[in-house]
Amino acid sequence: MNEPKNNGNKRTWEVFAPGRINLIGEHIDYQGGWVLPGAISLGQWIKATEIDGPSLHVKSPLGTWTYASADQLCASNPQDKPSAFFKGIWSSFQKRHPLSSVGLEIEIRGNLPLGAGLSASASLSAGLGQILHLVHNSPLSEQDLIQIAYETEREFVGTQCGYMDPYAVVKSKADHLLLLNNSDLSTQYIPCDLGPYQLVLFHTKVTHELAHSPYNEKRAAVERAWELLKPLIPKDSVVEALPYLPLEVLERHRDKLSPADYPLARFTLDEQLRVEKAVNAINAKDFSALGVLLNQSHQGLSALYQVSCPELDFMADWSQRQPGVLGARMMGGGFGGCTLNLVHQNELSPWAKEALNVYHNKFGLQGEVYPVRLVHGILG
Ligand code: GLA
Repeated sequence: MNEPKNNGNKRTWEVFAPGRINLIGEHIDYQGGWVLPGAISLGQWIKATEIDGPSLHVKSPLGTWTYASADQLCASNPQDKPSAFFKGIWSSFQKRHPLSSVGLEIEIRGNLPLGAGLSASASLSAGLGQILHLVHNSPLSEQDLIQIAYETEREFVGTQCGYMDPYAVVKSKADHLLLLNNSDLSTQYIPCDLGPYQLVLFHTKVTHELAHSPYNEKRAAVERAWELLKPLIPKDSVVEALPYLPLEVLERHRDKLSPADYPLARFTLDEQLRVEKAVNAINAKDFSALGVLLNQSHQGLSALYQVSCPELDFMADWSQRQPGVLGARMMGGGFGGCTLNLVHQNELSPWAKEALNVYHNKFGLQGEVYPVRLVHGILG
C-alpha cells in the first residue's frame, strides 16, 4: 500500500492512518505517567497524486484548500485552523528533510468521527507526515513521524497535549495495547484478549476542540502541583514525576496545594495505579477487575479532574448498570466525545439498541455505536 503507483505518468501514494482508543490512563501522559492506548480500525485514507507545477491541493469532506507551493505554505501566516494544521505538518517535516517542489493533489477520506476523542488530529498529521516521507523518499524514522504529529498539535494547533496519540497512531500492533511510559517514552505491547467481552464506543456527538477547552488549564494546574510537591519528596527516594509520588506524601502535604489543584493531583496518582492494575488484570484475564478500574477512572475524571460533561456522565452511569457490562468510562481528553464500554458479546446488540434509545430520549441527540477492533498503527 505504501509503494508509489504509476497512475499514467503520475506517481501516487496511499496511507491508512488509524484513530485510537485509550483503555485507561487518562490525562497522565503529559505528566509522565503510563497510558494504555491502541489503534482502531476507524481511520483516514490519504491519497496523494503528483501534479504538474508546485501547488498543493488538499481535499477532504470538510473542505478544499490550495497553496501555491510547499514553501509558500511554510512561510504563510495561516488565517484558518486547517491551514495552521497543514503548515505545522509541512514545517515540522521541513525541519528534518528539505521539501521538494513536487506538486500534490491530496485526498482525505475516512470513517473516523471528528472531535470524538479518537485522535483524528494526530491520525491526520502522522498520516500526512508519512505521505511526505514517501513522496520525498526521506530517511524519516518512526520517531520523526511521531515528533511531526506532536509538534503540529502543540506548536500550531495550540493543544499542550502529551505523546499518547501520535505513539498510538504510529506504533500500535494488531490485537495489542501499547503500554507507553511517558517518562522515558519506552513502550511495551500488551496482548489484548478480552475473552467474551468486547470494547465498544458510544459517541455522544458532543464534539470538543481541546485547544479551546480547559485542557491546557488542567495541564498547568498539575504542573504547578508538581513544582510545589517536588521539593518535599524524601531525599532518599527517586520520583520522576507526579504520577509516581507515593500517596502518603501527597496526603501529608495536601494543604500545600490549592483546593482546586489537590483533586487533580489525587486523580493523577490514582489513575497511574489503575493503569498498573489494568495491565495485571488483562494479563490475568480478570475482566471484572478491569471493569471496576474503568468505572473508577470515570468517577475520578468526572468528580476530581472535572473533564467530563453531562452527556458522558449519563451514558457511563447508565452503561455501568446494564446486564453484561463490566465497566464504562469517558475516554480521551473529555468535554464530549465517546464513552468506552466493556460489554459481553451476547449483550452487545440489546445494549447498543438501548444505549441509542435512552440517549436520544434524554438529550434529543442521535448517538453512534462503534465496536472496537485493535489494528496496526501507520507503521505498526
Ligand atoms: C488528548 C491528548 C492526549 C491525552 C488525552 C487525555 O487526547 O491529545 O495527549 O492527554 O487527551 O488522556
